[in-house]
Amino acid sequence: MPADLNPIDKAKFVAAKRAVDFVEDGMKLGLGTGSTAAWMVRCLAERVREEGLRVTSVATSSRTAQLATSLGLTVRSLDEVRWLDLTIDGADEFDPDLNLIKGGGAALLQEKIVATASDQMIVIADAAKEVSRLGAFPLPVEVIPFGWQTTKALIEETLVAMDVMTREATLRMSGESPLVTDESNYIVDLHLGRIGNPRQLALVLNQIPGVVENGLFIDICDIVVIGAPDGRVSVRDINTGKVIDEQIHFAPTDNIFADLD
Ligand code: 5RP
Repeated sequence: MPADLNPIDKAKFVAAKRAVDFVEDGMKLGLGTGSTAAWMVRCLAERVREEGLRVTSVATSSRTAQLATSLGLTVRSLDEVRWLDLTIDGADEFDPDLNLIKGGGAALLQEKIVATASDQMIVIADAAKEVSRLGAFPLPVEVIPFGWQTTKALIEETLVAMDVMTREATLRMSGESPLVTDESNYIVDLHLGRIGNPRQLALVLNQIPGVVENGLFIDICDIVVIGAPDGRVSVRDINTGKVIDEQIHFAPTDNIFADLD
């Protein structure tokens, strides 16, 4: 394992590498967004290069599309491909039911559309993402810019009746300006501490005019692959209840590190 990778990156890398073993020739794939998903894109590109695997991919953000294309992967729009075999993505938190908080990288809208259009979703993560209850990570909500302050006020009002620990909502910024998503929307982050009923909250938030989508992924993820810095991975399948612990071996000279700064 490369000595210069920090422990978290090593954990993310082994989770990504193991998840890419699920990819089969001819598959249509959803490619997630974030630092863990970027490792997955590199691992996938390596399999395509070395094994001649033929895959068609749909990216969940412009960032991922750029990385995948630069590594030689074929990237198509979801409208061209329509339905996917498998999506592999990271997450900000996952609970024992494999419900997720996503959107730390502001790509939750495309991520949810792509994951929902997939037969299977695999989440790749380091152990720090595992929680007994969702909510310590701020829940991202994508809102349209028109009237965003009114939408934020409506969200805050709605939270009063929800089983959450704290109720602060903040507009996500990029420097001095609001962060703008790939779909030209804003993100409001909800600092909730603990979410008592994620399913209810996900449904209620999406009823508010101006809310496009929220970062709660309920009953969407099938498998989580959790990596550890020493190369151990745990593969948990929510549908079968199976948990498999394995060790990932790879050479420090692996090609996938070639494109790193
Ligand atoms: C992007 C996401 C990411 O998957 C999530 O933020 C995890 O990112 P990372 O792998 O960098 O920790 O939801 O919108």
